[in-house]
Amino acid sequence: EQNEVTVQVPMNIALVKYWGKRDEQLILPLNDSISLTVDKLTAETTVRMIEGVGKNTVEINGKNVELSSNKRYQTVFDEALRLQRKRKELSDSNGNSTSISHYFQVISTTNFPVAAGLASSAAGFAAIALGIQRLLNLDDSQANRLARIGSGSACRSMFGGLVHWKKGEKEDGSDCVAVKTCDSNWPDLYCIILVFNDGRKKVGSSEGMRRTRETSTLLQHRIESIVPQRIDEIKKAYSSRNFENLAKVIMADSNQFHAVCLDTSPPIRYLNDASWHLIELVEKFNEEQGIRAAYTFDAGPNACVIVQKKDAKQFIDAVLKTIDIPEDDLKLAGEELSETFRP
Ligand code: DP6
Repeated sequence: EQNEVTVQVPMNIALVKYWGKRDEQLILPLNDSISLTVDKLTAETTVRMIEGVGKNTVEINGKNVELSSNKRYQTVFDEALRLQRKRKELSDSNGNSTSISHYFQVISTTNFPVAAGLASSAAGFAAIALGIQRLLNLDDSQANRLARIGSGSACRSMFGGLVHWKKGEKEDGSDCVAVKTCDSNWPDLYCIILVFNDGRKKVGSSEGMRRTRETSTLLQHRIESIVPQRIDEIKKAYSSRNFENLAKVIMADSNQFHAVCLDTSPPIRYLNDASWHLIELVEKFNEEQGIRAAYTFDAGPNACVIVQKKDAKQFIDAVLKTIDIPEDDLKLAGEELSETFRP
């Protein structure tokens, strides 16, 4: 049996955001979300499954992760071993298989600074899940679940292109899956990432989601009346290559996500002055040129701007004229969303 595998898995950026869980243990979301996979920003990850008694270890970009303060890894490893035992029992004709203990070693390298707060958790957990899938011969839905219980957004990184994560209805999460939604990808979309880290300690996603769920009155309205339409609009705009409509929904949803955070008690503020400066710049760019750029922000101040390839240079020039950011950093962050990724 093979006991080591190396995979490369990309990050994804949500166009309609996931925010709020209906089950915190299984990581089942309160609403559907939809994302684009950014092929070239990846986590290359080696997963080793070793026979015997030993401690699980995870290393990211040369640094050891303290597993006692991050229980999600343990959850993923436990689930992997449970699936392995299940398979062994099935294949054992006498039904009383002797259980052998195993532990995991994970070594992950991102080709993008983890400080950007973007490539890290989704790509990382998706890579671990894909690696374990290969080692244990799991089916796609088992791998999807494994990624999801590591970090919700990770289950969207198992495919390329446009990915729809369905919240599902069932309590066991069996109908909560991410699926690739559009057969033909839109290869000339660019994702430009602008890093505006300011060293503030931000509220983590889990804590933030819990707080919003418990206190926001806007959230329910968003979940029931806004998100379902937006998911449809994104799919329609993407499949008909209507950039304007795609961009409008992306920006509206980013803004609503941050509004819901502000509607939380105590309020959560992820955007900073630089983020707002960028929002204003994009709005002005679109006013002058027709809608050709869309910003979106996750749980932090860094921006992801989506443009078409033909507009990438002009947009980058506009940013460099007004925002103080090293040119090389910006170019480095400009990545084509191509259609190469297939797990
Ligand atoms: C704002 O997937 O990091 O980026 O499931 O608790 O690990 P956990 O949360 P996480 O949340 C991502 C939230 C978001 C929006 C999104 O990616 O959809």
